Amino acid sequence: MKKLLIANWKMKPRTAREAVKLAKASDVRDVLIAPPYAFLPIVKNALKKATLGAQDFFYEDPKQGGAFTSAVSVSMVKSLGVKFTIIGHSERRAYFSETDEQVTKKILLAYENGILPVLCVGESQSVRQRGIMEAKAFVALQIAKDLSRVPQQAKKIVIAYEPIWAIGTGNNDTPENAADMARHIKSVVAKNNHGLNVAVLYGGSVNSKNITAFAKENDINGFLVGGASTDVKEWKAIMAIVKKA
Ligand code: PGA
Repeated sequence: MKKLLIANWKMKPRTAREAVKLAKASDVRDVLIAPPYAFLPIVKNALKKATLGAQDFFYEDPKQGGAFTSAVSVSMVKSLGVKFTIIGHSERRAYFSETDEQVTKKILLAYENGILPVLCVGESQSVRQRGIMEAKAFVALQIAKDLSRVPQQAKKIVIAYEPIWAIGTGNNDTPENAADMARHIKSVVAKNNHGLNVAVLYGGSVNSKNITAFAKENDINGFLVGGASTDVKEWKAIMAIVKKA
């Protein structure tokens, strides 16, 4: 596959049995899957070809564990064979009050542990209503803050452009605008983090009907898919389209 394809299962499916079924149906080489923490071990066992990732981990990693009830550390997910992690998803920022400072800590921990960070950025509806220049300025600032502690030796990052108003709403961005934003993100990273190789994904109401048009845009290097990645029929159609793109 020339484009990256990541499934973000969010808080789905409902049971372990359904998670195994979904993992088996999604098990295709080059596809990346981020199940919820609770299902990481069983999904790992079910996968033979796809790459396993996490949706997050805690921003502290005391080497001897720590008193952080319910938190999951980077070393825990690493020991389960996780190769990448989503960081700074807008749902984490909104519902768990995640800050840019915490995001920077997580990115640093990911690099220290050899896990590829998939950083999520994107503007809200109210920012976007003020125009595309405002949206670009917002995204540039988010990237400048979130990548402020990337170690010198870091080689690669994935950034998912996910306009908040497009997530789970059925109201996707246009492929042209997403490609324009992808170019903008690449230029911001080139300026701030010289030498860091960046792949830019689009996320926000991607489905089997609209993905073909996005896939035609060379500046969009792949997709972060939420809802449609937990619907087997939809996901299989998406995987087939991306494979051919
Ligand atoms: P969605 O979510 O595909 O359900 O819009 C995308 C995401 O939040 O990563």
